[in-house]
Parts: sequence; C-alpha cells; structure tokens
Amino acid sequence: MSIKENLQIYEQNAQNYAEAYRSLKSPDVLPYFTDRLAKVSKPESFMVLDLACGSGRDAAYMAEMGFTVIAVDGSKEMLSEAHRCHGHPSVEYMQDIGPEFNALIRRGQKFDVILISSFLFHLDKAERKQFYRTLSMLAAEDCYLHILLRYGPCRDDRVMFDVPVKELEDFAGQYGFKFSQNAPTKDKLNRSDVFWRAVDLNRGYIKGLIPKA
Ligand SMILES: C[S@@+](CC[C@H](N)C(=O)[O-])C[C@H]1O[C@@H](n2cnc3c(N)ncnc32)[C@H](O)[C@@H]1O
Repeated sequence: MSIKENLQIYEQNAQNYAEAYRSLKSPDVLPYFTDRLAKVSKPESFMVLDLACGSGRDAAYMAEMGFTVIAVDGSKEMLSEAHRCHGHPSVEYMQDIGPEFNALIRRGQKFDVILISSFLFHLDKAERKQFYRTLSMLAAEDCYLHILLRYGPCRDDRVMFDVPVKELEDFAGQYGFKFSQNAPTKDKLNRSDVFWRAVDLNRGYIKGLIPKA
C-alpha cells in the first residue's frame, strides 16, 4: 500500500482517530519526553518540530509549556481536527507529506527538538532511509530527537511496519547523535498485543535540555 492510500485512511477517519488521540494526555503517552521538556528553563528559545502531529495534542501541550512549535501532518483532515481542538498561537500547523517533507525542507529551518510520535511505522524500509536523510536536514547542530515506536498488529486497514531499533542506532551513529532507548511501555489504549518503545537521540548539551555528562 502506498503512502497516499495510507493517508487516505486518515482523511476518511480523521474525527475518529483524533478523538482516540485526544482521549490520552501527552505526559501519559510521552512520559520520558515531557519530563525532559519540563526541565527546560527558557522554552521560548527552542524551535520544536512535531512531525506527523495528528490531532495536535502534543503540539498544543508543548506550546502550553512555552515552546514555539511547527506541527506538520500529511492529512488535511487531521490538521483540521488539530486546528479545531488544539489551535494555539505558538503552534503553526502545516500540511506536508513524508518521507521527503519537501515543503518543510524548502523553508530551510533547523529545529532544536524534533518529536516523531507514532509515525515511523507507516514507512517501509526504503521510505525510512529517505526519512532519515530528511531528518538530518531538519536537525539543528545540537538537536534532541524523541521517537516513539509502536509494535504489534494493526486492527484496521492502515499499513504498519515494525521498525528495528538498530536502524535508529545506525542513523544516530551516521549523523553524530548519541543514542539511548527507554524500557518498553504498555499500550495506553489497553491493547494487550501492542507495546511502545521510546528512543532518544541527541547531539551534546543543548540549552539545559540534555544534562551535562
Ligand atoms: C498514528 S497518527 C499519530 C499522530 C500523532 N503524532 C500522535 O502521536 O498522536 C499518524 C499520523 O501520521 C500522519 N501520516 C501518515 N503518513 C504520513 C506521511 N507519509 N506524511 C505525513 N504524515 C503522515 C497521519 O495523517 C496521522 O496524523
């Protein structure tokens, strides 16, 4: 199934997906990430990117914390849900499609923090290879990347791939990031056969976000 067909499913079911995503709170879904962001003393000096932002739940949460956020998604309907329920003056929502995210790349912006939550599994191996190139162009020198990976079967028509953690470790090594992974966590929507793993990539000490070694 192509990226286009996968996105079509989000277009057609945006309200249902957005409702499910809104039923969870960002700190429950992204505990490691939100804990880390909470320690930042000057969030306004960070440029944050939420890639494949979906319902906008996490973008709005980060904006509430004081960060400036660009939140990108390929689905117009998901973005309209995001505007409707999670509009915020510090969030700019933008439509663009991965793995290339050409419109975003054309802006030439670099980001201090990049969140990729629950998206990478939509890309096959070749697409992920392209996505890592895209990421390398979007990451600021001291960028901190948080990636939430999903494992387990999908109960609807969307196509999902299991992403080997080793692949992210290799990407980290190639682009000079320090790699770490967190313990797997259970699914917050109570699906017993689904679990999640959060991966952190960072390049050095950045404005208080990554503790000095
Ligand atoms: C499972 S949702 C996750 C949304 C959000 N990050 C979260 O954690 O709640 C996946 C999102 O990826 C978007 N998406 C899927 N394929 C995409 C692609 N090729 N390019 C851009 N966005 C895509 C969908 O529209 C959907 O909003």
